[in-house]
This record gives sequence, structure tokens and C-alpha cells, in this order.
Amino acid sequence: MTSATENPTLSFRDGTEFPQFGLGTWQLREEEAEAAVRAAIEVGYRHIDTAAIYQNEEAVGKAIRDAIKAGDVTRDELFVTSKLWHNQQGEQTSVAFNQSLERLGLEYLDLYLIHWPWATAGLFVESFQAMAKMQGMGRVQSIGVSNFYPEVLDTLVQETGITPVCNQIELHPGFSQPELRQYHQEHGIVTAAWSPLGSGKVLDLPEISEIARTLGKSNAQVILRWQLQLGNMVIPRSKNAERIAQNFEVFDFQLSQEQMQAITQLDVSAGIARIGGDPLHFPEPVGEH
Ligand SMILES: NC(=O)c1ccc[n+]([C@@H]2O[C@H](COP(=O)([O-])OP(=O)(O)OC[C@H]3O[C@@H](n4cnc5c(N)ncnc54)[C@H](OP(=O)(O)O)[C@@H]3O)[C@@H](O)[C@H]2O)c1
Repeated sequence: MTSATENPTLSFRDGTEFPQFGLGTWQLREEEAEAAVRAAIEVGYRHIDTAAIYQNEEAVGKAIRDAIKAGDVTRDELFVTSKLWHNQQGEQTSVAFNQSLERLGLEYLDLYLIHWPWATAGLFVESFQAMAKMQGMGRVQSIGVSNFYPEVLDTLVQETGITPVCNQIELHPGFSQPELRQYHQEHGIVTAAWSPLGSGKVLDLPEISEIARTLGKSNAQVILRWQLQLGNMVIPRSKNAERIAQNFEVFDFQLSQEQMQAITQLDVSAGIARIGGDPLHFPEPVGEH
């Protein structure tokens, strides 16, 4: 157990511990990605989320390796995630995985995810089986999925006999996914929240501003605290060193039950819903694009 003022650690069903709070890196490229990762590690982040499609694995890896060289952190203190993109699902999975490791310049990953199920292509079972082989070889500590919904999760578990450790899904005050969180809880799957700040689009909701004013915190800090208290893995992104530091200062205060409920209620009342793609329809079926 971690104290309220520390970066909290949770455990996956496979026993692996992970820092609940991390840095998202979507849309950060080259120097921007490198600087963000260094700034994050400097203020105490120990968890970095990237993906092949973000085209920043080289920069993210360089920042990680430089931080290790500088003595700021050791590799085993860090938790690094990457993800398999659609174009390499199926028989290309192990190639994609090795390419990610090579671009990152790392010996192993802590977590590898299927980025989207792409159910119409029917390759996610084969992809996950290939990931399990990589895990068996010690190249990745834990394997999970992203943007999966109950139907594809059920198929994955039935066909492979393996339950993914986590499912990384769109989740923010405008779209808090109560049913999918419930499903995850029943199946021992960690909910990881992507776009935890709604990509910036839910920051200014008046209900959030009111709670932030009461607590003397920023709106982003209130939302991130709500995510932590829901028990989600949370990976906010910022390119700005001050906001990276601010986002990490969320371990020394608590939201009351009423405040938690008021934010969760925005899922219904704020009229926002999904900001990103719907996994049922993204990407388009094979042959249609
Ligand atoms: N698995 C998936 O399919 C998937 C999909 C989307 C995202 N993700 C992951 O989830 C991560 C986070 O999601 P996201 O990148 O969509 O966005 P997000 O973290 O929800 O929001 C990022 C936006 O909020 C702004 N911001 C951050 N901290 C702030 C603060 N303290 N005050 C005011 N504004 C603030 C950032 O601007 P500045 O940079 O200017 O601070 C940026 O515009 C991604 O980076 C990626 O790693 C995964």
C-alpha cells in the first residue's frame, strides 16, 4: 500500500505491480515527446504510455534511456507500455512488437496492448496468442488490450484462455463508462482511462470548476483525482512541463463521495459522450477504405 501523498501502485491479475498514474504521449513528436518524458520522470512519473502509431517511440525511448544514464531512474522502476496497430495484427504481431522494442531501444516492455480490436478483420485472437508467446519469452511483463468491449473480450478469453490484465478505454467525466467498468471489475481486468481529461474538452465544465474552486485545485487535478479514486489507471498527456508537474500533484487530497458522484453524473448530464472513435466501427471493415 502507498500513502496518500505518494504515486500509488496497483496490481494486475498476473501479480505485476504498476504505477497507477502515468504520462500519455499521443500527438507528442520528436523533441516535444522527449522533453515531456524527461520532465515527467524528473517530477516522479514512473509510467509512460506510447504506441507504434504515435510515431514517437524513438523519442520516448531516448528520453527514458537518457534519464537512466543520468541516474534519475532505473529501468526496473519504470513501467513502459506500447501498442500493436491494426496494420500489423495477426502474423505480423511479433514483428511489430520487436520493432517497437527496437525503436524504444529497450530490452523489454512492461505492458503491450492490442490498440483496437478491429473485430471485422478477425485477427485479435491470433495477435493476442502471439503476444502471450512474447510474454513467455520474457520480452513483455504483462499483456492487455485497448478499446475492447464485452463481446470481443468474451471471445478473446474463450479462444485464448487468457484474460487480459487491462483494457485501456476512453474514459473521462463526459463519458465515464459505468457498464464497461463494472464488466472489468467482475472479470479482474484493470480499467485504464485514455483521454482522462477528454483531450482537454471536459476541463471547463462548470461542475468541475466549482469543485476545483472549493478545494483550491485546478480543474485538471480534480478530474485526475476522480480517475484515481475510481481505481483507474490514468495517463494524462501534456507537452508543458508545468502542467506535467501540476497533473502529478494529485496524491495529497481526496474528493468526497458527493464530489465523486457529481463528476460521475456528468456522464449523463453533460451531453458529451465519446470524443474518440467507436471501437465497434473503427477502423472501417477490411476492404472498405
Ligand atoms: N488506446 C487508445 O486508443 C488511446 C486513444 C487516445 C489516447 N490514448 C492515450 O491516452 C493519453 C491521454 O489522452 P489524450 O492525449 O487524448 O488527452 P488528455 O490527457 O485527456 O488531455 C490532453 C490535453 O489536455 C491538456 N492538458 C493537460 N494537462 C492540463 C492541465 N493541467 N491544465 C490544462 N490543460 C491540460 C493538454 O494540453 P497541453 O499539452 O498544452 O498541456 C492536451 O491538450 C494519450 O496521450 C495516449 O497515451 C490512448
